[in-house]
Amino acid sequence: MNSERSSGLAAVGALARAGEVLADHQYRLWADWFERRTGVHIQEHRLPFVRRVLAQRLGEVGLDGERYLAALAGSGEGEWRYLADQLLIQETRFFRHRESHSLVRRVVARHAIERAGADLHLWSVGCATGEEAYSLAIDALAGFAAAGSAPDFAVIGSDISGAALGRARRGSYPLDALSAADRAALGALLEPAGAGHFRFTDSVRERVAFVADNVLDQRHGFFTAGVDIIFCQNLLIYFRRWRRQQALNFLARRLRRGGYLIVGPGDCADWRPGHLERVDAPGVLAFRRPLEGEVEAGD
Ligand SMILES: C[S@@+](CC[C@H](N)C(=O)[O-])C[C@H]1O[C@@H](n2cnc3c(N)ncnc32)[C@H](O)[C@@H]1O
Repeated sequence: MNSERSSGLAAVGALARAGEVLADHQYRLWADWFERRTGVHIQEHRLPFVRRVLAQRLGEVGLDGERYLAALAGSGEGEWRYLADQLLIQETRFFRHRESHSLVRRVVARHAIERAGADLHLWSVGCATGEEAYSLAIDALAGFAAAGSAPDFAVIGSDISGAALGRARRGSYPLDALSAADRAALGALLEPAGAGHFRFTDSVRERVAFVADNVLDQRHGFFTAGVDIIFCQNLLIYFRRWRRQQALNFLARRLRRGGYLIVGPGDCADWRPGHLERVDAPGVLAFRRPLEGEVEAGD
């Protein structure tokens, strides 16, 4: 636990009883705040885990439910970050959805041929510990190589969890995080990083940056000129339907003309953005913002 973060609450709680659990009405209030901050709706099957984490936390900071909620409502920013790190699901893998990554390679190769000289921006939204962002960098390298062009691109990975981003920035992964086939294919781009671990060489790492960002925050100030490929998978599944659509609408507005938004195949099958066209790629759920002069879907 981060002692600096908890010290404020611990001081407030010094006189309070320790080890309490949140009463049902307090939990409901807490879950509502958590959802408004992160978008994540805590589902029934995760309740026992979440309540266990909260009970343990009350014990650690020495606060009863009422004082804990009061502290959260006040200057609880560090505590919210702690809770996000503890409670958000950060499961991820390299090249998790192969068909989507194949689409990225094709899009990059086409970009390299048709828009030679224009830089290319890719964004991994909800990148967790970085595997997805590095996979996109590998895809982009492969796409430029297929087109016979020098690579000119940048990948940003964003997440709400500081702990996940810390691991992404370190970029050291166990060897078995890559399949044997990927290890063989990517050998020249890997270097040792301690016993049984690897990291990508600078030729990959220098293309990738990680930033803290909440997908519910519409500003996303780090891509001022718009994004060519937005990749957002296995994040929106934790949101209620209306909030998924809201977040997708925010993301769609960040696309450059000709840009692609690639979501997980089951993430939001009923989203129908009027101004984007559906990409025809088997097994993939992706949308493209038409170029100027092309007929826009829904026109
Ligand atoms: C299950 S992981 C998915 C990782 C990766 N996209 C993949 O498909 O393998 C979901 C990630 O979304 C992040 N997340 C949850 N709510 C978020 C929000 N409101 N804004 C940004 N990231 C969020 C979590 O911290 C977690 O790292």
